[in-house]
Amino acid sequence: MNDEKIIICRCEDITIEEIRAAIADGYTDFEELKRFLRVGMGPCGGRTCLPLIRRELAIFRGLPVDEVALPAKRPPTQVTTFSSVAISSEGEAK
Ligand code: FES
Repeated sequence: MNDEKIIICRCEDITIEEIRAAIADGYTDFEELKRFLRVGMGPCGGRTCLPLIRRELAIFRGLPVDEVALPAKRPPTQVTTFSSVAISSEGEAK
């Protein structure tokens, strides 16, 4: 199997080749990669791809993985109820 075609972020369909190219272009932390490639912004919230991308960043920067910063957590700034975002079975907002 061609290593470069390995998908790292399944939610956003991003391969290791794209991640390595972005890192080589100067996107050297997770926040930058997130904004450039949308990694970590899929339905899983980065649970799958975050550790893999941190490892790639650590290798590139010559650091232990624990020293590669985690992305910032941004919780909702106001209370949001489930009913405010629910969609009825007919596809209409409730
Ligand atoms: S695998 Fe990257 S956001 Fe889900």
